[in-house]
Amino acid sequence: MVTLVVNGQSASFEGDPQMPLLWYLRDVRQMTGTKFGCGMALCGSCTVHLDGVATRSCVTPVSAVGNRKITTIEGLHAQGRHPLQVAWREQGVPQCGYCQSGQIMQAASLLAQNPKPSDADIDAAMAGNLCRCGTYTRIRAAIKQAAGAKKGA
Ligand code: FES
Ligand code: FES
Repeated sequence: MVTLVVNGQSASFEGDPQMPLLWYLRDVRQMTGTKFGCGMALCGSCTVHLDGVATRSCVTPVSAVGNRKITTIEGLHAQGRHPLQVAWREQGVPQCGYCQSGQIMQAASLLAQNPKPSDADIDAAMAGNLCRCGTYTRIRAAIKQAAGAKKGA
């Protein structure tokens, strides 16, 4: 049995410890904001935080989480008003939306570690998060807005 803390809510889990965290979040905790894309750590759509660090939940078994606190898009801000979420709305970032929770969680981890990232820092941090709709320019603008930079700079 493992105990997992998701968005501040603790729960014990007696299922398969090798279950990927992604499926635990979606099927056990009913938190479907985190998306399945590739299942092989290649696209970033499943990104969540473990103790604030962006992590691919599709390749992280629940047994590997340990005592680290899990944060999903549902828990990033209680009212959905994390600066990145505000900027995402104002910049109109999403197209189909499928990749966007992973993009935001990746960006939130970046800003927590580097509050004023350069374009190169953003590109390096976000390079592994793919968007089939090609929203990359707006993602960068929204990250810069959230970091306090001029809109669209
Ligand atoms: S679903 Fe996890 S990286 Fe693609
Ligand atoms: S908004 Fe469609 S995949 Fe990114």
